[in-house]
Amino acid sequence: MLRIIFLLSLLFALSNASVQDFCVANLKRAETPAGYPCIRPIHVKVKDFVFSLGTPGNTTNIISAAVTPGFSAQFPGLNGLGLSTARLDLAPKGVIPMHTHPGASEVLFVLDGYITAGFVSSANSVYVQTLKPGQVMVFPQGLLHFQINAGKSAAAAFVTFSSASPGLQILDFALFANSLPTELVSATTFLDPALVKKLKGVLGGTG
Ligand SMILES: *[C@@H]1O[C@H](CO)[C@@H](O)[C@H](O)[C@H]1NC(C)=O
Repeated sequence: MLRIIFLLSLLFALSNASVQDFCVANLKRAETPAGYPCIRPIHVKVKDFVFSLGTPGNTTNIISAAVTPGFSAQFPGLNGLGLSTARLDLAPKGVIPMHTHPGASEVLFVLDGYITAGFVSSANSVYVQTLKPGQVMVFPQGLLHFQINAGKSAAAAFVTFSSASPGLQILDFALFANSLPTELVSATTFLDPALVKKLKGVLGGTG
């Protein structure tokens, strides 16, 4: 009898053990490197786990492209799961310039249109393909990659990152959109100083 009571109480204790299934973001609190603090499970609703990326972003800009984030700040149910999402829109001639995400691999799923996408490996091998709707391409963590509209109509894609904080460094901005002196940019990239000055002018760099 005692043994049965012991087993029952153990079972009860285990069923109440607090397995943390999720940590829906409390957006009223500050984000930390580990994400947002959680709201209490009793306050969690299904809408916290649903987010719409159905609306095209505004592509009227220098790259004719838009990235609409679905990160924890927009999509609280993602908090703590090590994932983030985004929508990519490319007008005709639109381009996401060569860039890296230091903290995440990326999966891109083409929704509409044609997108030429590629990445360059550490061994400088190039992997590039024109993708059509329904195709998916993966970009390994940290490698330089790009996407460009390959068709005559608008293109759209959905992307998922293997981290809540993929990070972003855009190559041209790193080289030409800051105050690193032209002579240093030129000396360290082997580019002509006149070209460096021109690109600094276009991208808002100084020096
Ligand atoms: C898109 O962005 C441009 C440039 O910022 C702006 O002039 C235009 O009103 C925006 N269009 C919409 C629909 O928001």
